[in-house]
Amino acid sequence: MELPFAESYKIKMVEPIRKSNRLEREKWIREAGYNLFRLRSDQVFIDLLTDSGTGAMSDRQWSAMMLGDESYAGARSFYEMQAAIREILGFEYFLPTHQGRAAENVLFSVLIKEGDIIPGNSHFDTTKGHIEFRKAKAVDCTIDEAFNTTLLHPFKGNVDEEKLENVLKAHTDKIPFIIVTVTCNSSGGQPVSIENLRMVRRLADKYGKMVVFDSARFAENAYFIKLREKGYEDKSIREIVRDMFACADAMTMSAKKDAIVNMGGFIAMRSKDLHAKASVFNIIYEGYITYGGMSGRDMSALAQGLYEGTELDYLETRIRQVEYLGNRLTEFGIPLQQPTGGHAVFIDAKRFLPNVAKEEFQAQTLGVELYLEAGIRGVEIGAILADRDPVTRENRYPSLELMRLAIPRRVYTNNHMDVVAVALKNIFDRRESVTKGYRILEEAPIMRHFTVTLEKVI
Ligand code: F0G
Repeated sequence: MELPFAESYKIKMVEPIRKSNRLEREKWIREAGYNLFRLRSDQVFIDLLTDSGTGAMSDRQWSAMMLGDESYAGARSFYEMQAAIREILGFEYFLPTHQGRAAENVLFSVLIKEGDIIPGNSHFDTTKGHIEFRKAKAVDCTIDEAFNTTLLHPFKGNVDEEKLENVLKAHTDKIPFIIVTVTCNSSGGQPVSIENLRMVRRLADKYGKMVVFDSARFAENAYFIKLREKGYEDKSIREIVRDMFACADAMTMSAKKDAIVNMGGFIAMRSKDLHAKASVFNIIYEGYITYGGMSGRDMSALAQGLYEGTELDYLETRIRQVEYLGNRLTEFGIPLQQPTGGHAVFIDAKRFLPNVAKEEFQAQTLGVELYLEAGIRGVEIGAILADRDPVTRENRYPSLELMRLAIPRRVYTNNHMDVVAVALKNIFDRRESVTKGYRILEEAPIMRHFTVTLEKVI
């Protein structure tokens, strides 16, 4: 008999979590303005708001923290990070930043000016925010297959060659770089193939443009390439990672994901000149170039995390857990982005709650229902997140209205996944009776989803 699959770690430290009852949850979510971001974590039983900064560090990472060097300049921890980045990602230069959006802020301060156009595959919200804040425009060139949740496609994060070339042709002078997000969070944690990355590189060379990777989940992307792309089945994750990054000139990284740390990020690049220009902004916004918003101990843990995050055993444990949840939900007939992504399951809220109007925010409504059902916190990736058009100020309704359940790394067991699956099944069984959603009472001018206050439509 073939042995069943099991985790590639054992547990050395635990943190208690608390269940609550429905009455308590009704009060808490009302007080939070029906915004899941505004709940206290003590009010949540299983927290799938994000996989960002919520992972469990290993004993090796905690040990690395104790050896961190807190020198202002030239800290040993900086050089540990440099060695890991050179060895694993193959970039000569880098700058630490306090997290991913800070890396975007620093790099975009050098590269983007008003009126620019930045093509890519479904830019993440902070990326888009940093582009729009500079009065530039993000153009989504993701393949159409990504927006059909029932369609099975191995690389739904891929960039569409024709869409990209059309943008490059029409706006050649306004495009400073192409950005590719690996994996593509906004389309469902979906990977990009090596073949596609090479196509982007070819087009970039043809039009003389830089390629930047938004690399938060690059190791998960490499795992999917190993699993799904012909010719890569026998390559190691690190070899695939090197092949991926060979197509990029620079990268931004939220280390809170695939480097399995609670805080941290960086920019890496090949160009000495770009490094020099970005250093100026790094010093203004983040800190001196050898710490850039991070403690020495955090840089040491990050370096160790880059090695662990690119081990096959770890990635297999990680992605199979996400797949396990996806499979359970699929067995219950629950509509989700297929195939399951790397870091999260994305429920198709339009199909899950067909009786709620899009103006009443279907994915948000589902998120609140799930919290009320079992104290589980997911997050809306839909119209609230998509925000208003910066020019017309009209609500934007994206083609996908998703409720994301992001799985923290090395944190929950499959028993927790079972609770999530059954809670969703219970709601799915009574979906016809959910007919009303929410309306916005107060919102911020940009990135409104974090702080928005909602009220129930009666
Ligand atoms: N790029 C991608 C693809 C991301 O998913 C994120 C963050 C960032 C950039 C920004 O990084 O948070 O370190 O500043 N994603 C988190 C999420 C917040 O929940 O998906 P950050």
